[in-house]
Amino acid sequence: MCGLVGYIGKNNAKDILLSSLELLEYRGYDSSGIAIRINDSIVTYKDIGRVSHLRSIIKNNIYSNIGIGHTRWATHGSVNRINAHPHSSFDGRFTLVHNGVIENYLELKMMYLSDVDFISSTDSEVIVNLLSYFIRKCSIEEALRKLISVLKGSFALVIFDRDNMDRLYVIKNKTPLLIGKGNDEIMVSSDALAFINSIDSYICLDDMEYAILCKNSVKVFDSRGNIILHNEIKNDTNKEEISKGDYPYYMLKEIEEIPSCIERIRNKYIYEGCITIDESLLNEIRDSDIIYVASCGTSYYASLYFKYIMEKEYKKKVDVLIASEYIYSFEAIGRNPFIIVVSQSGETQDVISFVSKCKEKGLRTLCITNTRYSTLERECDYSLSLEARKEVAVASTKAYVNEVVLFYFLEKAIMNDINRVVVDIDELLISVKDVISRNKEIDNIVKQIVSKDHLYYVGRELGYYGSLEAALKLKEISYIHAEGLSSSELKHGSIALIDSSFPTIALIDNMIDELLVRSNLQEIKSRDGMTFVITYSPFYKDGDSLSLKLVDSSLRIIPLVVVSQYIAYKCALLKGNDIDKPRNLAKSVTVL
Ligand code: F6R
Repeated sequence: MCGLVGYIGKNNAKDILLSSLELLEYRGYDSSGIAIRINDSIVTYKDIGRVSHLRSIIKNNIYSNIGIGHTRWATHGSVNRINAHPHSSFDGRFTLVHNGVIENYLELKMMYLSDVDFISSTDSEVIVNLLSYFIRKCSIEEALRKLISVLKGSFALVIFDRDNMDRLYVIKNKTPLLIGKGNDEIMVSSDALAFINSIDSYICLDDMEYAILCKNSVKVFDSRGNIILHNEIKNDTNKEEISKGDYPYYMLKEIEEIPSCIERIRNKYIYEGCITIDESLLNEIRDSDIIYVASCGTSYYASLYFKYIMEKEYKKKVDVLIASEYIYSFEAIGRNPFIIVVSQSGETQDVISFVSKCKEKGLRTLCITNTRYSTLERECDYSLSLEARKEVAVASTKAYVNEVVLFYFLEKAIMNDINRVVVDIDELLISVKDVISRNKEIDNIVKQIVSKDHLYYVGRELGYYGSLEAALKLKEISYIHAEGLSSSELKHGSIALIDSSFPTIALIDNMIDELLVRSNLQEIKSRDGMTFVITYSPFYKDGDSLSLKLVDSSLRIIPLVVVSQYIAYKCALLKGNDIDKPRNLAKSVTVL
């Protein structure tokens, strides 16, 4: 959450900062700001709203070769201009941008800064004032180290110093901070995406490190002041990947990229009829007596699929955990547990904290992620990549699909059962492509639900897990309150809400569950509830809303969820919502 950037170099910092912030806006978009050097002063521009608005309030003819920028997702203090970053210290010496949360900011404020008049309600303003306080008695390096030693929580900081305006200072703990090197220019960012226009390679700072950046040099130190060298990573972010092309929204583009994502993950993991997953990883999983999968949101719903197939087909116990619920209380049961974490971004703080807890206990970990060199990839013993390429829309679509496909490969590899893999993937591709080509047929459902306030998605087993994800997607971007339920659970309470204004969409994925779900739908109809059925062709009955091409494997969850992604997208479109940047959300959730 929050995107930050810093720039020193030969180009106009204002332009670089603004275009980088536009690329980072998916991390937070309540407000934005930059601070740049103009002659001998640091000048700050900030306001609520998007980066496009910030651009409009900054004069075109301003030139600067150094500056910092921020796009905010509010944690401390409401969304207003004063709380927007950058923030400056009481004496005007330091100006900073911050991503993260300082847990002890009130304590630090009382301890060191009782005579400072604070302007904002943010924890970030405490940091910048602390630096001005510490520097009175020591050098800048000592002050930076002192700052690291007193701050508790997560912080990526980029700091501008009025008394040395050719440098930037950066500090990192528990939230990403990358330093990119180009030709006569240095950039800092929370994500390599911001480097796309000019930076060839970058380094990732580790926790509790700081760095001093000048136009032609980067010096990184640990918290005791020892010099640290990091391996450089080539910047291979591809411009096409993050272009919207002819699509009106990233979300639609990303839904329609699903077939190519499935093909890419198939090409990565299937070679000459074999699944190419590290045998030592497979053996560790086979040898474990219980598997814990921890994740959040959409990734959590994809994890439930793994539990379903592993328990049903491999007869191994899998426990799926909402990562945040187990950060403090996780106690693995079993002699030899194995941990899997799933995170599209690889930067979700709830999951990172869960992994730290597991590492303290000496547990072995696998991370499934879409983001190379992410914190989770670096923290875990093994990693498997999702090959979905950059997902920009806040609502996850293609990454969910590849999480499910990867889990499918993992289970087949663990079982050494590759007979049907190629056929299953081919069948899946045919069905998903069919959904995409016939997506107009979904409009009929959308028209009837778009004006409703509430909705249930129901199913059983895989249809139920699909319903959970379908409901999240609908809430997230159309703002229709939705719940995913096992259809059999309706009668245990939730059916009380059903009346003619409360629609239910059923996801029917197999013959055995079909009869039960349909009988649960009858109970809804008897109470005037409106029902819709999305199912596969062999189970289709007159009056159903959509018939899909059969997928005869557990991957059948995917086309049903893809339909629900379209439903959410189309509802949000009709309502005129900001589909790629829904209210109150951000793509990368880097706070606890
Ligand atoms: C919903 C969505 C979120 C994320 C969740 C975890 O569309 O995108 O629920 O799935 O914040 O994010 P990752 O997978 O990056 O850990």
